[in-house]
Amino acid sequence: MYPMIKIEGVRHAYKTPAGPLPVLDGLELSVDEGGFVAVVGPSGCGKSTLTRLVAGLMKPDEGKVMLHGELVSGPRSTVGMAFQNPVMLEWRTILENIMLPLEIVATKMSKAEQRERANYLLELVGLEGFGDKRPSELSGGMRQRASLCRSIVHKPEVLILDEPFGALDAFTREDLWQTMHKVKEEEPFTGVLITHDLRESIFLADQVVVLSQRPARTQYVLDVPNTGPRDLDHLYTAEAADMLNILRHQIEVAQGRAAA
Ligand SMILES: Nc1ncnc2c1ncn2[C@@H]1O[C@H](COP(=O)(O)OP(=O)(O)O)[C@@H](O)[C@H]1O
Ligand SMILES: [Mg+2]
Repeated sequence: MYPMIKIEGVRHAYKTPAGPLPVLDGLELSVDEGGFVAVVGPSGCGKSTLTRLVAGLMKPDEGKVMLHGELVSGPRSTVGMAFQNPVMLEWRTILENIMLPLEIVATKMSKAEQRERANYLLELVGLEGFGDKRPSELSGGMRQRASLCRSIVHKPEVLILDEPFGALDAFTREDLWQTMHKVKEEEPFTGVLITHDLRESIFLADQVVVLSQRPARTQYVLDVPNTGPRDLDHLYTAEAADMLNILRHQIEVAQGRAAA
């Protein structure tokens, strides 16, 4: 299949007052069109830096970041992003917050069509009827659902999720995982999910990439055999336990707590 996202030999160091801080050193990543890759790795290893590169918010010192075979040279409207702490504008309703990207990205949709799309997405994530609320009237989980709607309202080809469920309690998080599968079915995208939750990685992604300690390189790649929507029961199978063991070991290797 065609690689939608391709990262080759990427090296990068941030300039800091104390001198250069190398964060990426030999990063390789390839995500096929329609694929969903989870990226895990020690805290501070460079995961968010990776998302900024794919989003075109910064350029690497060395190496290539390509979308659709084209070098990424700046931000593009074909990329959507969602983060752990979604910034919602309190003076706007939830529906108006979701429509925000359509005001920024050139769209041929009429205002009525924009509202219709935003309402359809609210329904898709289980927030039907909440469009008129203000962000502060929603729970953390509901805000994250709304943030997900906002990140895909302009139908991006690539969706980047940087620990979007990290601040939620375990049950809310599992609900959102199932919503995520539903969204991917109805609104196809090529996804990169940054997470520190290994269960989340194998539940949602079809491939899990483990990054090494900073400066990060691609240390290990695990293919998840059952792709597409799956039941939470799947996490309690022997197959899932094996995958989680492998990943946990790889994280320990990355942290320098176990030998490879
Ligand atoms: N703009 C920046 N300038 C200097 N250092 C940075 C900058 N952004 C991130 N860093 C540092 O680079 C390292 C990697 O950051 P980040 O990509 O956010 O890691 P992660 O998301 O894996 O926790 C961290 O040590 C962080 O402090
Ligand atoms: Mg981060």
